[in-house]
Amino acid sequence: MPLVPTHEVLTATPLAAGAFNVVLLEQLEAVLTGATRAGLPVIVQISENATAYRGSLAPLAAAARTAIEATAVPVALHLDHATRPRLIEEAVVCGFTSVMYDGAHLPWEENVTRTRELTAWCHRHGVFVEAELGEVGGKDGAHAPGVRTDPEQAARFVAETGVDALAVAVGTSHQMTERTAAVDLDLVRALRAAVSVPLVLHGSSGADDTTLTAVVQAGMSKVNMSTFLNTVFTGGVREALATAPGTVDPRSYLRPAREAMADQVARLLTLLNTPEPVVSSATAMPA
Ligand code: G3H
Ligand code: ZN
Repeated sequence: MPLVPTHEVLTATPLAAGAFNVVLLEQLEAVLTGATRAGLPVIVQISENATAYRGSLAPLAAAARTAIEATAVPVALHLDHATRPRLIEEAVVCGFTSVMYDGAHLPWEENVTRTRELTAWCHRHGVFVEAELGEVGGKDGAHAPGVRTDPEQAARFVAETGVDALAVAVGTSHQMTERTAAVDLDLVRALRAAVSVPLVLHGSSGADDTTLTAVVQAGMSKVNMSTFLNTVFTGGVREALATAPGTVDPRSYLRPAREAMADQVARLLTLLNTPEPVVSSATAMPA
């Protein structure tokens, strides 16, 4: 089906939308296959970092749009962690349904001013905006270990900028390779009560299954995950190459990697949208 606006994906998702980052075509396919298997909406994310790796946004964005059109579940396309207004403009031209403006490294006033201006511009183009306040740590400012979002400040930031969703720091940090983050659930509940727009968890790779379930019950609406799925994908490549060290055909190691990632996407989407707690003792990342 055609791309679905991000706010519609959020409302069409029973509890919380999974938002998964892709760098490669195979990862894009894995996200769409996983969502189809789960029968749940999903948000495909391309980050400013991924764009830097690829050299430009347009080719992967075009592939994403085409693949999404051939997918039966609702899918939104999101530009993640953009610090450059130019890239946001490009994303809007490329058909992205939402963008995250990351001004977390800026002083409060400057972050508010820039976020407000970009949000107004995006809204004129029908694009949903997620943003972040405070020292949300570089790509780690507010999501650096120990940093927490203050509910009162968060409410003020949303009111002053007009953003549609807010990334909050509640105990996770980016690029954790162990699922050991201790999320402050009382803070999530306080933020949920104080802030009128959907809340977004970044650095979700650090949260184990039990924590993910709890954080959604506490009020998180969008769960961003990248590192965990990269670990699964790379593990698939590693295993395939170890099994057949003489192979030269990239399909021989990308196919199992894509399949392993699709399985995890389906599992995670189901987990995020299952109301009752799911018991899991696994905290270690897959090999
Ligand atoms: O915006 C993307 C997410 O915050 C990804 O974080 O790689 O730690 O899962 P993660
Ligand atoms: Zn993030």
